[in-house]
Amino acid sequence: MTIPVQRPFLGPEELQAVERVFASRWLGLGAFTEAFEHELRTFLGVQHVVAVGSGTAALHIALDILDLKPEDEVLVPTLTFVATAQAVVMAGATPVFCDVDARTFNLDVHDAASRITPRTKAIIPVHYGGTACDMDAVHRLAAQARLKVIEDAAHAFGSTYHGQKIGTLSDLTCFSFDPVKNITCGEGGAVVTNDRDLADRAASRRVLGITRDTWSRREAAHPWSYDVAGPGFRYHMSNINAAIGLEQIKRFEAFRERRRAIARRYDEAFAGVPGLLLREQHLAETCPFFYVVRVMDGRRDDLMNHLKEAGIMTGVHYIPNHLHQVFAQQRTTLATAERLGEEILTLPLFYEMTDEEVEMVSAAVYRFFSAATRVVALVSRERPAATARQPLRAISESR
Ligand SMILES: Cc1ncc(COP(=O)(O)O)c(C=O)c1O
Repeated sequence: MTIPVQRPFLGPEELQAVERVFASRWLGLGAFTEAFEHELRTFLGVQHVVAVGSGTAALHIALDILDLKPEDEVLVPTLTFVATAQAVVMAGATPVFCDVDARTFNLDVHDAASRITPRTKAIIPVHYGGTACDMDAVHRLAAQARLKVIEDAAHAFGSTYHGQKIGTLSDLTCFSFDPVKNITCGEGGAVVTNDRDLADRAASRRVLGITRDTWSRREAAHPWSYDVAGPGFRYHMSNINAAIGLEQIKRFEAFRERRRAIARRYDEAFAGVPGLLLREQHLAETCPFFYVVRVMDGRRDDLMNHLKEAGIMTGVHYIPNHLHQVFAQQRTTLATAERLGEEILTLPLFYEMTDEEVEMVSAAVYRFFSAATRVVALVSRERPAATARQPLRAISESR
């Protein structure tokens, strides 16, 4: 048996919802898309939601409606999925990569401040693993430098910042509902805002700049008639994807509780394990998207192989973006992110993961480090083996 890193949970309700869409014979943007937008508005407590086909499309639209010019710069953390930076490029501007905080892996706002130039127009904080960025600091910086704030909340559906839902804090927030996100639509995303003008522009961009989409003009006297008012893409969310999302939103509380419980269990299991450093996640406010540890002393790949042999899949989130060849022109040194890029390992975390599977992962991590501890104990008389092994024994006893 193999334990995957991430896996969506889908039940018969999602299947029945998709069957209802099939029966309606209206597969594209339609009633289910509108209903999903309504549910998201209610859940998040925001005024406008524009549902789109992916988180990448959401970011692209959010940036595109700012009408950026080729010389304009957008600050992005380098430790993110490449969609964040590629969206900036797709919107015709230049990503400027920033370092991250070694405790949370979120944007280092001081580093971002040092990279501001007269060309900087926007900043994209990414809530890594669902843990909110320091949004007070981001907004202070944005106010000083007159930057638009677009939150990349792909990981953070259902997280809060000082009790406020992610999605309610900035000019624009972008969510992803891809297969492994906190809720999934199969594929999907959303642009969220309280600004009417930005919402209208986003809605127009998602359907090729067409003034009224096919669904809203279905009962008009001349449903074939429309105008094209501006540029746009074909990025709308389909009824099929929205139907899945509508069922997933109902499950959200259960998803969040289970994800938090697994993350909490890992935190307990790994606290004090020599060779591992844990990320600060602020679980009371976070719906954890994944569980990432730092593996010290250059042993990340060894641990990854050890876990693979035990049937446990792991991941690396992420290779710092500024190291990818496509961004060679933006090459810079971002010391913390580069170090993290060598150390980080994502362990399995998904709703259906059983307690036994969580224990299997913890035990396999243990075995790796207890073997290492024994070797260190043999070669080092300075360090009593009993002290080094203590936390390991404590965890095995608790199983
Ligand atoms: C931080 C981040 N931003 C954006 C995206 C893009 O979302 P999507 O896969 O829905 O296009 C992802 C997806 O994994 C992501 O992790």
